Amino acid sequence: MEIKKTLLTIGIILAAITTQAQKAPTKLYQEPYRLQAHFSPKEKWMNDPNGMVYYKGVYHLFFQYYPKATVWGPMHWGHAVSNDLIHWKQLSIALYPDKLGYIFSGSVVIDKDNTSGLGTKGKPAMVAIFTHHNPKGEKAGTSTYQNQSIAYSLDEGTTWTKYKGNPVVKNPGIKDFRDPKVFWYAPGNKWVMTLATKDRITFYSSPNLKDWKKESEFGRMLGAHGGVWECPDLIPLKLNGKEYWALLVSINPGGPNGGSATQYFVGHFDGNKFTPTSTETKWIDHGPDNYAGVTWSNTGNRKIFLGWMSNWLYANETPTVKWRSATTIPRELSLKSAAGDIWLTSNPVEELENIVTKTINVDAGLLAKDNNIFSVIKQTPTQYRLKFNTQAVKDYSVILSNNAGEKLVIGYNAKNSRYYIDRTRAGQNKFNKQFASIAYAPRLSLSPTSDFELLVDASSVELFADGGLSNLTGIYFPKIPYTRLSIVNNGMEIEDLQIQPLKSIW
Ligand code: FRU
Repeated sequence: MEIKKTLLTIGIILAAITTQAQKAPTKLYQEPYRLQAHFSPKEKWMNDPNGMVYYKGVYHLFFQYYPKATVWGPMHWGHAVSNDLIHWKQLSIALYPDKLGYIFSGSVVIDKDNTSGLGTKGKPAMVAIFTHHNPKGEKAGTSTYQNQSIAYSLDEGTTWTKYKGNPVVKNPGIKDFRDPKVFWYAPGNKWVMTLATKDRITFYSSPNLKDWKKESEFGRMLGAHGGVWECPDLIPLKLNGKEYWALLVSINPGGPNGGSATQYFVGHFDGNKFTPTSTETKWIDHGPDNYAGVTWSNTGNRKIFLGWMSNWLYANETPTVKWRSATTIPRELSLKSAAGDIWLTSNPVEELENIVTKTINVDAGLLAKDNNIFSVIKQTPTQYRLKFNTQAVKDYSVILSNNAGEKLVIGYNAKNSRYYIDRTRAGQNKFNKQFASIAYAPRLSLSPTSDFELLVDASSVELFADGGLSNLTGIYFPKIPYTRLSIVNNGMEIEDLQIQPLKSIW
């Protein structure tokens, strides 16, 4: 049904949509702003996801963790596990700081062939490769305080032993020398490490995870350089049967909407050297709150990405009380051709369906007539999912609002061909003057039709548009929960609108 040149505003009352009582004290996982479909630590500070690995049916998630405060501090590796990437159980701390320093970001591999000799043939070791950051060396003004070390576990990640010969990659005199991500490169029968080395990525290789040799460098003159490079990842992906490699590189600051963000390059990798197929700077997500993301190891052809849902501009100041920061929803990465180039798409993993309580398909005709249709949503999950398809893309917006006069606006602007999240009036923003912002993502798709998927949680919104080609992730902090949803549609045909209330994962 075509709705022509009408400014259609549909007020949707989402009665009792939330358990997000904004007054403390509350039960664990029900505190103000606590996300109900995303992982966050029980309490205290978290930043980057680390060491993600799939082993024996379990998805492991380690993370940068400071167990003594809700601000960044001496880094540990926290640990959580999941069977479905959605429901998480937090376990005890995996790695503690030691005399070599704090435990910064890194990765975990399963050493199936016991190349390291740290396990046995029948019982492979889980090996963590991470950065040891020595705060004393930093204070003393040296430039060699970040080095790469390893630790291993023979009980599926429960307990860890640090390798006696640490560090395994010594700093050659580069201050920013960190965040090793390691994978097995079968054609070369060797391990490959991608390491962030200030303004470039350095590749190393090893037969045994202990002895490393430098292979090559990439990126000094390519991509965005508004800040230091961090948290790389190199993954193979197929497009029309042909293999490519995507190199993810986080950068802080210098993101497209300020502060931290993650860029990527598509190209070829021959075991020694990465060669990009395009010189365009590309972003995995244009939103302000998706940083330091990498993919799970040991998941075969499936590449599952997880980011930290915050930004170093204000991460230490966000108004949560007992805990601080969460991860994005896990996202499946694929390649897609569009506008004469090859791009990464990100979409929520299909396991998110596990917490869909029901699907409400809204008839486009009803959208025009019945404003109260969404009062059917009487249950209490705090998340819902919304999808619609359009023909001939014009301006539209989705507005979430509350009775305190706050609103979060997510939409598309046809004149500039870009999607946006406007959180300037979305809630609390005084904690940092750079927080109240409008973030934009260019529309890359040239198709006359479009789709728009929003995952809204108690204090986060993730937009996946055009099959995940254009993405925006942002956090927000309303005084009271949002209870109304409106769609402003400037005369465009809406084919289908689906609302999927989600169950809390806790
Ligand atoms: C990225 C980062 C990493 C570092 C870690 C320290 O957010 O700065 O480069 O390893 O956080 O917590």
